[in-house]
Amino acid sequence: MTTYDIALIPGDGIGVDVTDAALTVLNAVAEIHSFSLQSTRFPWSCEWYLKHGAMMPEDGIETLRKFDAIFLGAVGWPETVPDSVSLHGLLLPIRKAFVQYANIRPHRLLAGVQGPLRSDAFDILCIRENTEGEYSGAGGRVHQGGQDEVAVETSIFTRTGTERILRFAFEQARARRGHLTSVTKSNAQKYSMVFWDEITKELAQEFPDVTVSHMHIDAMAAKMVMAPGDLDVVVASNLFGDILTDLGAAIQGGLGFAASANICPDRSAPSMFEPVHGSAPDIAGQNIANPIAAIWSGAMMLDHLGEKAAAQSVLAAMERATAKGIGTQPGSDSTDAITTAIIAELEA
Ligand code: IPM
Ligand code: MN
Repeated sequence: MTTYDIALIPGDGIGVDVTDAALTVLNAVAEIHSFSLQSTRFPWSCEWYLKHGAMMPEDGIETLRKFDAIFLGAVGWPETVPDSVSLHGLLLPIRKAFVQYANIRPHRLLAGVQGPLRSDAFDILCIRENTEGEYSGAGGRVHQGGQDEVAVETSIFTRTGTERILRFAFEQARARRGHLTSVTKSNAQKYSMVFWDEITKELAQEFPDVTVSHMHIDAMAAKMVMAPGDLDVVVASNLFGDILTDLGAAIQGGLGFAASANICPDRSAPSMFEPVHGSAPDIAGQNIANPIAAIWSGAMMLDHLGEKAAAQSVLAAMERATAKGIGTQPGSDSTDAITTAIIAELEA
């Protein structure tokens, strides 16, 4: 029997609630499909920071490296640790150290979920660059506190980083409906974004079967509301992808349904799977967080591990449950009730 070693980082707030829920579903599907998940829990979180003065141990990255995949709940408890400290101490270093350059986020309405738009017919895969761009962390502040203070934050776009995310996106488009929309702002940002557009055009030669549209981020924000059904695969830089995927979450019914995968495509390091939502301190530990985003992220993890049939089973069971209304109305079903209903569908 194949066993996968999974590093679990529930993190903060509802991250803990939804990680437990997702793991219960994943273990149930593993049993049905005759493989097993050996999970090791790491309590790295803001609470851990308060005791140890860091979000994870110094050798945390090396510890995680030997796992087949990482499953993360959520990071952040701004009442005690500033987000800029907690995120730069755990989530962001993992994405960068393991070269998880492709952040994949599917946006479609599950059966039974009512979105805010008039038209429900859309199925978008957002591919966000996840290691550089506007979130490179290059910059600094001088003359702090004074009137002549200066803050500089430099976006970094490398040829290697830009080519690899665009190539990844072209490949995803080829495997889906054959359409790629590349999102930039090259009418205003004349270096990095023009560079991105040029590389998109270069790569398009290698993918004659993929049709490419170029859109600016502002127009794209409008399009995702007015005509999301026209979109297939969407690729964007780190900041633009971050913003568009919250918009994507909104049109699919909310953050409770938004799944994500941080993928290291060459598999030289583990990939990480996490719901898009944060730690939601106001509802933490109350058994009311929607676990669907985490369960869907878990299905993406199984798919990445090669357990395609099990991943499909989880998605199908989840959607049979939502079709019956389970988990589709904010606050109507508890975390446990949604989890139990999905497992019942799996076993049916
Ligand atoms: C996300 C989150 C993170 C990001 C934050 C918490 C740093 O918003 O995964 O979209 O911007 O990457
Ligand atoms: Mn975000």
